[in-house]
Amino acid sequence: MNFDQLNPRLSCLFLEGTPEIVTQAFHDLNRDMNSKFVHVFLDKLERYATKPDRALFLARYQERFIGFACIINYSPPPENVAKTSIELLKTFACSTGLMVLPEFRRQGVASGLVRCWEKWAAEKSRNGVWLVTRKMAQWYWYHFHYSVHGIVTSKGTKKNILIKGFPKKFHTETEPNILHIA
Ligand SMILES: CC(C)(COP(=O)(O)OP(=O)(O)OC[C@H]1O[C@@H](n2cnc3c(N)ncnc32)[C@H](O)[C@@H]1OP(=O)(O)O)[C@@H](O)C(=O)NCCC(=O)NCCS
Repeated sequence: MNFDQLNPRLSCLFLEGTPEIVTQAFHDLNRDMNSKFVHVFLDKLERYATKPDRALFLARYQERFIGFACIINYSPPPENVAKTSIELLKTFACSTGLMVLPEFRRQGVASGLVRCWEKWAAEKSRNGVWLVTRKMAQWYWYHFHYSVHGIVTSKGTKKNILIKGFPKKFHTETEPNILHIA
């Protein structure tokens, strides 16, 4: 899959990860990671590149992978949220990761990846996207119009549940603009 009209200031390509490119993506993207978590990261990339209910999006610049994002069709909402929230979040896709290598930041790469997951969710007819973040709630709100839907506490740490619902016309009037490539 190739995504057009994402307009990053860096001229990079956005693509959907496949099992064939996971090894290189892992090699390029794991370098700043705590060694305890690299195997968890590889496992995650493999699952998101393989399973049909989720997607791995990669940003590539000059033959290197420089950023990634993950999204899943359905993820169980956190246990301590209200019943009405559970019902809502069941109808939303869930973003489970976003990272851009430090030297490529502030050039629109993450913005392109966020648009990739939103197009994917709309194509799957989900009603929106939700995610959990500890520190980036304001960033998601300011740049992408995600709003705080609730707070979860995990191991003593407070995190925000953010949501962005799609307007009806997102499904009916906007083409997801996804091109299939070999
Ligand atoms: C957060 C992160 C994904 C942003 O990636 P990026 O490619 O730099 O983001 P973009 O360039 O698309 O940024 C979009 C806008 O946010 C701004 N921005 C980027 N990082 C920012 C930050 N840490 N604080 C405030 N503003 C920020 C950019 O300047 C840009 O604004 P502009 O369009 O007005 O110029 C990246 O810093 C990262 O990987 N951080 C570590 C992992 C992380 O925090 N992931 C998100 C966790 S939920």
